[in-house]
Amino acid sequence: MSQHGGNTVEVAQQLGIPADTLIDFSANINPLGAPERVKTLIKDNLACIEKYPDVEYRHLHQKLAAAHHCDPASIIAGNGATELIYSIVRYLKPRKALLLTPGFAEYRRALQQQQSPVEIIDYPLSEKQGFQPDWCLLETLSEVQPDCLFIATPNNPTGLMPDTQFLRALVDYCELHRIALIVDEAFIDFIPNAEGLIQQINSTRHLYILRSLTKFFAIPGLRLGYLISGDTTGIAWLKAHREPWSINAFAALAGEVLLDDQQYIADTHRWLKIQQHYLWTHLSAFSELTVWKPTVNYLFFRCNKSDFDLQSALLEHHILIRHCKNYSGLNASYYRAAVRSEQENRLLIDALEKIFPHG
Ligand SMILES: Cc1ncc(COP(=O)(O)O)c(C=O)c1O
Repeated sequence: MSQHGGNTVEVAQQLGIPADTLIDFSANINPLGAPERVKTLIKDNLACIEKYPDVEYRHLHQKLAAAHHCDPASIIAGNGATELIYSIVRYLKPRKALLLTPGFAEYRRALQQQQSPVEIIDYPLSEKQGFQPDWCLLETLSEVQPDCLFIATPNNPTGLMPDTQFLRALVDYCELHRIALIVDEAFIDFIPNAEGLIQQINSTRHLYILRSLTKFFAIPGLRLGYLISGDTTGIAWLKAHREPWSINAFAALAGEVLLDDQQYIADTHRWLKIQQHYLWTHLSAFSELTVWKPTVNYLFFRCNKSDFDLQSALLEHHILIRHCKNYSGLNASYYRAAVRSEQENRLLIDALEKIFPHG
C-alpha cells in the first residue's frame, strides 16, 4: 500500500470498481483543475518533446526568483518538492535529524536512504498541545543538538499552521546554532496573503524553504516544486550535482507562468473560503467526529466511534478519504479529507449522514 493519498487505482482494484467512479478526498489537489493557460501552453508547445529542456532551467529559475523577489542563485526548481527533499538531504548529509510527528513521510525516507546512517529523533506533536509545535521544541533542540530539522508549515496531515512568532524564533535559533532548518511550505499558497519565510533568506544561511506547485495549481502529474535558500553555495552544489533534465519541458514552461495567474489564484481562494467553511461546519456537527480547524485545503479529524473503520464505510459510497494510521504518532481513528468541489463535498456530508444517522 502506498504511503500517500491519491491512490485511487489500487483502492479501486481492491474494490473491483473502475477508478474513475471513486471520489478522491485522499489527495489534496485543487479541484479547479490545472489552469486553462497551462493546458493551452502545453498544447501549443508539443514540439518541446523533441528537444532537451535547458539543463540549467535558466528561464524557469529567473521567473520563480522574480515572483519571490530573490536572486536566481537562491533558487532551484525540482521535479516536485519531493525531488528536492531528497537532494537537500544528500547535500546536508545530516548525522542527527529531528522530525516532527505526525508529518510528511518523505523526510524520513530521504534520511533513511543516506549512505552514512542518520540518527532520526522523533518530536511528537501531541493532541494535548493541539498537534502544534511550541517553545518546548527549542528546548528539545538544545538538548538533542540535531544538525537538521524538518517542519511543514502548514503541517500534513493536520493542516495546522504554527504561530508566526514561534516560527521566527525557530529560524533565529537554528541560524544561531547552525541547524539546517527545512521549512516545507508545500501548501502555503492556499492561505491568502501568507508570505511564509522566504523573506528571511537574506538574513539566514541555514534556512531552506520548500515550495510545491503541484497541489495549488493541480499539476501533480506534471510535477514541479522549488527550494529557496540564502545558502547560495548549497543551491549551487544542488544545481551542480542534480541528475540532468529531471524537470520535463512542459513542467518547466508551466512554471514560468503559473505564479502570474492572478485570476486562478483568486478563484482558488474564493472557492476554498466557501468550501473549507462548509466542510468544517458540517463535519464538526457530527458528534462522532472531532475536527481540527483547517487553514488550507484539507481537514484533519478523529473518529470517536471505537473500532470503526470510517475509510471503509465511506468506500461503500465510493468516497475515498485518507486514513492516518500509517503516520507516526497517529492511529486508525485519525483521518484527513481534502476540500473538493461544492457537489463532491455535499456527497461526502450526505454519505456521513447515512453512516452516522442522527436522532
Ligand atoms: C507536506 C508536503 N510536502 C511536499 C509534498 C510533495 O509535493 P510534490 O508533489 O511537489 O512533490 C507533499 C505531497 O503530498 C506534502 O504533503
